[in-house]
Amino acid sequence: MSRVLVTGGAGYIGSATVALLLESGYEVTVLDDCSTGHADSVPEAATFFQGSLLDGNVVKMALQGCESVIHFAAKSLVGESVLKPDLYRTNNVIGSQILFDEMDGAGVSRIVFSSSAATYGDARVQPILETQKAEPTNPYGETKLAVDNLLTDLAAQESFAAISLRYFNVAGAITRDGKWLAERHSPETHLIPNLLKATPSNPLKIFGTDWDTKDGTCVRDYVHVKDLALAHMQALAALVPGVHEIINLGSGGGYSVREVIDTASAVVGYTIPTEETQRRDGDPATLIASITKAKELLGWEPTLNLESMISDTFESIQ
Ligand code: UFG
Repeated sequence: MSRVLVTGGAGYIGSATVALLLESGYEVTVLDDCSTGHADSVPEAATFFQGSLLDGNVVKMALQGCESVIHFAAKSLVGESVLKPDLYRTNNVIGSQILFDEMDGAGVSRIVFSSSAATYGDARVQPILETQKAEPTNPYGETKLAVDNLLTDLAAQESFAAISLRYFNVAGAITRDGKWLAERHSPETHLIPNLLKATPSNPLKIFGTDWDTKDGTCVRDYVHVKDLALAHMQALAALVPGVHEIINLGSGGGYSVREVIDTASAVVGYTIPTEETQRRDGDPATLIASITKAKELLGWEPTLNLESMISDTFESIQ
C-alpha cells in the first residue's frame, strides 16, 4: 500500500494514527520536532525524521516516496495560545505553508489536516454544523482556521485533495506492543488526565461555574482517540482532487465539566477532589459537534464512550 507522511506522528493523536495506519498495511514516514511529541511513541516500522516543519529541507526529505500527508504537527493548547500567539502563528500557519509548498514541489497533492472545533468559537447554534461561520475566540483556533482557508485555496487553484477534520475534545488512550499511547503533555492542561491526577492537596481546578450552560460549567463533546485515528484512514480514502471538505469529529453529545468529573469518580471508585476557580481565558461555553457529515462522507461513527476514555486514560497512568 502507499506511503503516508504523518507530521506530528510522535504526538498523542498522531502516534495512535501511525499505529493504525501500519496495522492497515500503509507505509509511514513520521516528521516530528518532538517539542511536545515523544520519539519513543513512533513505532520502529515507521521511517522517522526528527525535525521542524519550519525547515523546508527536512520536509522535502520526509516527503520522498509519499503519496499522501496527514498533518497533525502543531501547537495545540488554547490557554498557551492566548499567552503566546506568535508561537502559534509561526508553528501552525507558517509551518503549514512550508509543508504545502514542499508538497507542491514534490507533486504530493493529497492531505488530511488536523483542524479543530476551536475554529468555531462561541457558536450560538449547537450541535455545530460545518457550515456554521467560524469565529475563533483564541489564537489557537485562529491558526487552525487560517490553515483550513489555505487548503480551500490550494484545492481550488492547485487541485489539491484536502480534508480538514475538526476534532472536538479528544481523550482516551490505546495500547500497542505492550505500551500505552496516551496523552503525555508537560504541563498537562486537559481535563481528563488532570482530574485523574487530582489529589486532596492538589485538587482539579474547575475553570468557571458561571457559564451559560446546564450546570454553569463548560460543555464539551468528547471523542476517543482510537475512533479519531480510524477516521483519518477513512478520510484518506475519501479524498477528491480539487475538493476541500471540512468534517467535524465528535460524539454528537456534550458533557459539562461537572458531568465529566462525576463520570470519572464513578469509573475510578473515589470522589475526584475539586476546587472552583475563575474562568480560563479563551474558553467558549459549549462545543458540541454535528457528526452527520462524518457519517455521510466517511461512513464514520464513534464507537467508544466517555467511560472508556476515562478508564483507558486511568489505565495508561497506573
Ligand atoms: N478544564 C477545567 N480544569 C482543568 C482543565 C480543563 O475546568 O484542569 C475545563 C476547561 O475550562 C474546558 C474543559 O474542561 O471547559 C475542557 O478543557 P480541555 O483543556 O480538556 O480542552 P479544551 O476544550 O480547552 O480544548 C480541547 C483541545 C483543543 C480543541 C478543543 C476543541 O485542547 O485543541 O478541545 O473542543 F480545539
